Amino acid sequence: MKKISRRDFIKVTAAGMGALAISTGLMGCSSDDDGNAPYQVTFSHGVASGDPLSDRVIIWTRALPDDAGAEVSVSWEVADDAGFTNLLHTGTTQTSAAQDFTVKVDVLNLQPGATYYYRFTANGATSPAGVTKTLPTVSPEQVKFAVFSCANYPAGHFNVYAEAALHDDLDAVIHLGDYIYEYGAGGYATEDAAAIGRTLPDDNANEILTLADYRKRYALYRSDANLQALHHKTPFITVWDDHEVADDTWKSGAKNHNEGEGEFEDRKIAALQAYFEWMPIRPVVDDNQEIIYRQFQFGDLVSLYMLDTRVLARDKQLDYLDYLDPVSGNFNAPQFSADVSDANRTLLGAEQRNWLQNAMAASNATWQVLGQQILMGRMLLPAELLTQLLDPDPNTILPAFAELANIKGRILMGDPSVTDAERARVETVLPYNLDAWDGYAAEREVLFETAKAMNKNLVALAGDTHNAWASDLKTLSGDHVGVEFATASVSSPGLETYLSLPDDATTIAQTELGVTTLVSDLQYLNVNQRGYLLTTFTADEARADWRFVDTVKSPTYQLAAARSVSYKTLPGQNDRKLIAV
Ligand SMILES: [Fe+2]
Repeated sequence: MKKISRRDFIKVTAAGMGALAISTGLMGCSSDDDGNAPYQVTFSHGVASGDPLSDRVIIWTRALPDDAGAEVSVSWEVADDAGFTNLLHTGTTQTSAAQDFTVKVDVLNLQPGATYYYRFTANGATSPAGVTKTLPTVSPEQVKFAVFSCANYPAGHFNVYAEAALHDDLDAVIHLGDYIYEYGAGGYATEDAAAIGRTLPDDNANEILTLADYRKRYALYRSDANLQALHHKTPFITVWDDHEVADDTWKSGAKNHNEGEGEFEDRKIAALQAYFEWMPIRPVVDDNQEIIYRQFQFGDLVSLYMLDTRVLARDKQLDYLDYLDPVSGNFNAPQFSADVSDANRTLLGAEQRNWLQNAMAASNATWQVLGQQILMGRMLLPAELLTQLLDPDPNTILPAFAELANIKGRILMGDPSVTDAERARVETVLPYNLDAWDGYAAEREVLFETAKAMNKNLVALAGDTHNAWASDLKTLSGDHVGVEFATASVSSPGLETYLSLPDDATTIAQTELGVTTLVSDLQYLNVNQRGYLLTTFTADEARADWRFVDTVKSPTYQLAAARSVSYKTLPGQNDRKLIAV
């Protein structure tokens, strides 16, 4: 992996990848902020920071002039006090329409584990101030992340971001993707948009395909006051999931990329360019927008590996419909089983996988944390539920869950009356989410065996499903190698919508109990609420606290405290399983 070289001058690349100004950032770079330029500048998309290291952090803003042809000179300041009386680093950079008037500066020569305040000025206008924090070099007593995924603007208010912005002790926000959604008006999860005042603007109301479309979609999302508040307060460490390009993206296509929408490659390049312009992410390789896997080190406590399971190398998802005979309904189990366990199927690709294995080998941190998109835990359900799960009807699937969970419960209790036929019904299982690691089982096993061989404490963070989950991570031979904590969505609808669950507490509780009973490695599921995940790492435990809001359909909400739960895992070879707190 190539590191960004140090430069003792300000570099402005206009290569259109979120032109990154790099500054050693000491005082003395003269400001040529021209207060008399013939245009007005606004900072209406706020500020952001991201990718903190022990000596540097990215700061971001958008300096939008009322003249689209303007070259805007933007000055920035970094101070160690909220009043900006003690300026430590200043500089000036340029932005223009070529980068959608976004500004990114990699501020170097910072102190480890320190809090900084930053802001921008242009042509007499001043941005809001942001707060950020560098990574520690000595081992901290704790590291705390707030973890998010799946923020869908037309589907709901970003109350989850608002709630998280109340924390004062976060080390970083980890965003696992679906930061935006690509759909147009009338697309997925837009049915409440008009009623809740979250419609798409007229000039961006279609499915987004071009660079201009993607840029406008980011501008819409970043106009949200709750998202801005969280960005202003905490540095983000982000990866994309599929909807930053299109639904179910893989390396050469996407389920939601169709004929008549142009070349997928062109769309992907546009989407990734807008991502690099709008997100406070540091390019990993100069002039390459496709590589985002990277490492963050929190002393000897946490090694955080951010992964790309989507764009770089993912093989196309398997589809159950390819294995079901449309006439007889018969399922070609041998062929499916051979394909899903094919050792060549990959999500990471050999280069990223080797990088991860080498980085884990070199790390002596207590916790090896994977910041990645999709569920890693084994989510196997009885095979007889397959056709029902492909097109769920609550009138039949809920009783089926209950009946099978009852059998499984009797087996777990050692009930001697369980028949062989009953046992076969619950022990003949299939993965139900082929877009997740379950569809790439051989590569998952390689990672689990790596963690086992190195005796590492693995903690996988996941998003993508819109529901909250906790699973034990086990090798095929049953050895615990770690745990998975998966966050609910910020606003996208979850399983309660997919399964058409009635909104009553008893049905919700029974469904959660049924699924967690049937899925052996699954310990916890919240099937119906929007929220985020707080993870706290100390020398003794990795803890997850899920926080849910009671609604996203109104800007006023309450924390649904009664439904928050906590799990923890302890370090050490034999104890890496989930414990309810
Ligand atoms: Fe999503």
